[in-house]
Amino acid sequence: MIYTVTLSPTLDYVVSVDHFQTGAINRTQSEDVFPGGKGVNVSLVLNDLGYLTTAMGFIAGFTGAEIKRLLRVGGVEGNFIQVERGMSRINMKIRSDAETAINGQGPEITQEDIGTLFSRLRFLIDGDTIVLAGHIPPSLPSDMYEQILEFLKGRRLRVIVDAEKELLTGTLKYHPWLIKPNADELGDIFGVRIHSREEAVPYAAKLQNMGARNVLVSLGGDGAVLLTEQGEIFSSDALKGKVVNTVGAGDSMIAGFLAGYLDSDGDYEMAFKEGLCAGAAKAFNLTMTTKKEICYLMRTTSFDIQRKQKD
Ligand SMILES: Nc1ncnc2c1ncn2[C@@H]1O[C@H](COP(=O)(O)OP(=O)(O)OP(=O)(O)O)[C@@H](O)[C@H]1O
Ligand SMILES: [Mg+2]
Repeated sequence: MIYTVTLSPTLDYVVSVDHFQTGAINRTQSEDVFPGGKGVNVSLVLNDLGYLTTAMGFIAGFTGAEIKRLLRVGGVEGNFIQVERGMSRINMKIRSDAETAINGQGPEITQEDIGTLFSRLRFLIDGDTIVLAGHIPPSLPSDMYEQILEFLKGRRLRVIVDAEKELLTGTLKYHPWLIKPNADELGDIFGVRIHSREEAVPYAAKLQNMGARNVLVSLGGDGAVLLTEQGEIFSSDALKGKVVNTVGAGDSMIAGFLAGYLDSDGDYEMAFKEGLCAGAAKAFNLTMTTKKEICYLMRTTSFDIQRKQKD
């Protein structure tokens, strides 16, 4: 089974407004509601690609109930812990001349709620995959991902971590199967700026030395580079197309990478290709990535992947 953990999932309320003004009444031209959060996004894309996942995390209030309902509509089974105080976040995005976002805080999560999460994680078994993705809400300990991996130590799991700074580096001693920093996140870890795939390679290699098995660095419209546990480096430009909305391209890439890996019985080049297509499929669409779009890109793209052995 594939488990995704989104500690504070959201309801994304996306509206478009002509010439949005502060201090005035604005009327919407369109409005949509989507379930959101990084692990939730990974679950939705994987589900569309034919992989069942269980989405875990904490929810509360009527917004929490709606997140769960919308995920079920999207085919994703939730195993969320219902917490008592507060409500799941609403993240509001206003599309106008410029884009404005207002992100909610999320519910108050207690020590007891954390205990419930661990009691549910007990059921993970060898061969399962767990995706830990996104920020840690303020009411949770900042080393939450480390605590989860410490708890799961000894099980042969495929662990994927998508997080920033110490939240990511703290998990490396548990040898995650995949980490996917973008160029800014990779640069932030080492206090440098990364401008190209070539520049990313030595820093990705450092993360491998610190414990990560496979490191996928995404550079938005500049493509991605993958350092595998077999000592290979794959590098590629991004796919070409009309870019509409790149938010969530990284989450989509993770789902595509995992599906490509599982579909091909462990071929990293196939995983890399499907990751590139899934990332692009998100960038080329306003809302969700779909299997239809990913398959179309997989079929019609003539990939130009540079492949070499790590020195
Ligand atoms: N403009 C684009 N054109 C084509 N492909 C893109 C574009 N932006 C992103 N992608 C694809 O998606 C992958 C992931 O994108 P990106 O590096 O923006 O992830 P991210 O910063 O983690 O995003 P997020 O955190 O919002 O999910 C890229 O490596 C690329 O393959
Ligand atoms: Mg990201």
